[in-house]
Amino acid sequence: MAFTEIKKGIYWVGANHPERKFFDELFPLPEGTSYNSYIVKGTEKIALIDTVDPVKADELIANLRELNVERLDYIISNHAEQDHSGSIPRILELYPGAKVVTNAKCKTMLMDLLDLKDENFALVGENEALDLGGKTLKFVLAPWVHWPETMFTYVAEEKILFTCDFLGSHESFGGTYDEEDGKRYFAEIMLPYRAFFRTHLERVAGMDLEMIAPSHGPIIGEPAKIIGLHREWASERVKNKALIAYVSMHGSTEKMVRHLENALAKKGIETKVFDVAKTGFEGVSSELLDSATVVFASAVVLNEAHPALLYAAHAINILKPKAKFYTIIGSYGWAATHAEQIKGALGNFKSAELIAPVFAKGTPKEADYAKLDALADEIAKRHAGI
Ligand SMILES: Cc1cc2nc3c(=O)[nH]c(=O)nc-3n(C[C@H](O)[C@H](O)[C@H](O)COP(=O)(O)O)c2cc1C
Repeated sequence: MAFTEIKKGIYWVGANHPERKFFDELFPLPEGTSYNSYIVKGTEKIALIDTVDPVKADELIANLRELNVERLDYIISNHAEQDHSGSIPRILELYPGAKVVTNAKCKTMLMDLLDLKDENFALVGENEALDLGGKTLKFVLAPWVHWPETMFTYVAEEKILFTCDFLGSHESFGGTYDEEDGKRYFAEIMLPYRAFFRTHLERVAGMDLEMIAPSHGPIIGEPAKIIGLHREWASERVKNKALIAYVSMHGSTEKMVRHLENALAKKGIETKVFDVAKTGFEGVSSELLDSATVVFASAVVLNEAHPALLYAAHAINILKPKAKFYTIIGSYGWAATHAEQIKGALGNFKSAELIAPVFAKGTPKEADYAKLDALADEIAKRHAGI
């Protein structure tokens, strides 16, 4: 995609990556993503804000050429992660006079990750300004957006804030912000850091802004609306919802899952079921974001939980979900030996309450279904208090 002027003298020069299938080799990307990189032209100096994933460096360079960027004074690095910083070495080759402008923490990380040298850098701190001539870049340190070195760059004259990963979404640049994509992105990238996120969000909410330009996905032209959505997502609030992640080899655990799903539905609990052996993590994170209860369901395999369920449990656990309750169900042949192992994968559920698990020997029978009905009652009772 060719460069695009987003404000007077400010241009998107990044790259879309619609064919990318996974982010962090973990989260499915139904619509791919983008790496947004921006040129800010002052009357005296020119700055590039963040770069692109190295696989898309050629597109960034083509955009810079098309825009006739013959001289570059600064490369602002808001975040050291390689999908935004990884093309800095190639940009420095093309523009050897440019300085990488960033904070002290980000500098050390860029040196570690990209083998950049001390002389490549100019350091900035909180609220420091860089005058480009008619456009002033102001730096806002925002550690732990999801890494320790993150910062934002504000151009006061244009009321635009460059937030890198903060308030991004995995979509192509050029469209309008989609709430579902934004929610999924938040759940997968920001949920574990939501306490820091809330602090940064209120700082951003207090700024005079017309536009937010993140490093993934569309430009945000209505900051207040998107800030409002993130305020809800980043809160500790959960809804009257349950998420069931399951694996079943011969259908018995699946029968238990379907029975529990119906029993919960009868109690008015919105329940989403994921056969994680078949669909992996697809769709899980958005539902996890506001589910009050998570149910892990697995058959016993060689004395253990099914590895596909353990993978999902581990991935759910590292997102530090808000869930207040969790439980385990499943079928076994001769000994239900897998619950401790599942519990062991859920260290971040330590403040969640474990509701008594239910296991069925072989295919579930009337007594097992009755236990699942009782489990649904227990979950409903807990949800009445959320
Ligand atoms: C490869 C394999 C290994 C199994 N290992 C165990 C085991 O160690 N302990 C046990 O109680 N059952 C074991 N079983 C039996 C299953 O747990 C049992 O058939 C259960 O009902 C399967 O549930 P599902 O229909 O949801 O797959 C094993 C089954 C298979 C296919």
